[in-house]
Amino acid sequence: MKGKHIVIGITGGIAAYKTATLVRLFVKAGAEVQVIMTPNAREFITPVTLSTLSGRPVISEFFTANTGEWHSHVDLGLWADAMIIAPATASTIAKMANGVADNMLVTSYLSTRATVFVAPAMDFDMMKHPSTVRNINMLRSYGNHIIEPADGELASHLVGKGRMEEPENIFRTVEAYFNESKSMRGVKMLVTAGPTREKIDPVRYISNYSTGKMGVAIADAAAAQGAEVALVLGPTDVRPQSPSVKVVNVESAVEMLEACNSLFPDTDVAVMTAAVADYAVKNPADKKIKRENNASPQLEFVKNPDIAATLGNAKRSGQLVVGFALETDHEAENAMSKMKRKNLDMIVMNSLRDAGAGFGTDTNKITIYTPGETPTVYPLKSKREVAADIVAKIASMIDARAD
Ligand code: CTP
Repeated sequence: MKGKHIVIGITGGIAAYKTATLVRLFVKAGAEVQVIMTPNAREFITPVTLSTLSGRPVISEFFTANTGEWHSHVDLGLWADAMIIAPATASTIAKMANGVADNMLVTSYLSTRATVFVAPAMDFDMMKHPSTVRNINMLRSYGNHIIEPADGELASHLVGKGRMEEPENIFRTVEAYFNESKSMRGVKMLVTAGPTREKIDPVRYISNYSTGKMGVAIADAAAAQGAEVALVLGPTDVRPQSPSVKVVNVESAVEMLEACNSLFPDTDVAVMTAAVADYAVKNPADKKIKRENNASPQLEFVKNPDIAATLGNAKRSGQLVVGFALETDHEAENAMSKMKRKNLDMIVMNSLRDAGAGFGTDTNKITIYTPGETPTVYPLKSKREVAADIVAKIASMIDARAD
């Protein structure tokens, strides 16, 4: 962060008081910070606090009233290495999406060539409103990074999504962007994620508890680093945030294998996070199985293909295949034998014995194994941070191969 020029834009939301901490974090890390406030933001936090923390006068008008000094939004836009708008209200997001340049902040946003990070903060219902959803998607399509708000109690006392992400996490996101390895740029990545569904009859299926969150986070993290990502996704409501991730929806293990087989020849790195059902029903009924006719129906199973092993054994030199292992016991032993059996270049192990790891949680705790290396044990982190660690490890393997 040392010497980086950071513009922090503050808009009129209750979370504005937290932005003082954000300014402090950047200054402590050696960045130069220029704060721009919208007129409404001044109702929530004083410019004196922010100019003291940043060591620079806060800008909120086009002119300084008593001297007539003009503040150049163009110069500020060019000076910035990154621009962070935190909190970003629904109104400022709408103005940014539509180019309504009626204050210094939005004018500087339109003038900047820097990478822009937007941390929305608003009430739950405003966040869900189709106009906000559309405006945020428009910002994404301009290449802006959206730092998703967290779930929690809001100023309205409603509980839901809309709380501005904590300053420490906003800081880490921007820091990770500057530290990003360039080795993921242009890398073609295939990610499998989510559960599979194996049909019993037209209305029933066998599946598992996977939500796909970890794989989707990896797809987003790799896309943020410039990889071209294809995500083969089993049935789940979780979707990538990055519009550049190409999603291929599948249901069963066989469909997932077909999608992977057709993408793999044009893939550099395959990351297999899907919780693939190990068995499928041998002869799914084409009509609903009726209760009266079947006191105790018997299902016969067939083994599903092992997608990771199929790709692991088909890979050509230069291709990397990464697997996951969710274990409940003998973690190291099981993970390493899976890596060998499936001919993987790396396996990410998470254990259901660790609190906060596994299905459906927003956190994970992983250990990464690679052949012949000491395993790396990571602490409990958010799935977003875990995804960044996994992508960083993949990038370092790509670098090592290039040397
Ligand atoms: N995997 C796969 N296809 C399968 C089963 C697993 O691609 N049919 C992949 C998973 O996506 C994961 C890795 O293989 O990357 C390990 O999955 P896991 O379910 O832990 O391994 P299994 O081989 O099914 O072993 P077991 O269920 O006996 O632990």
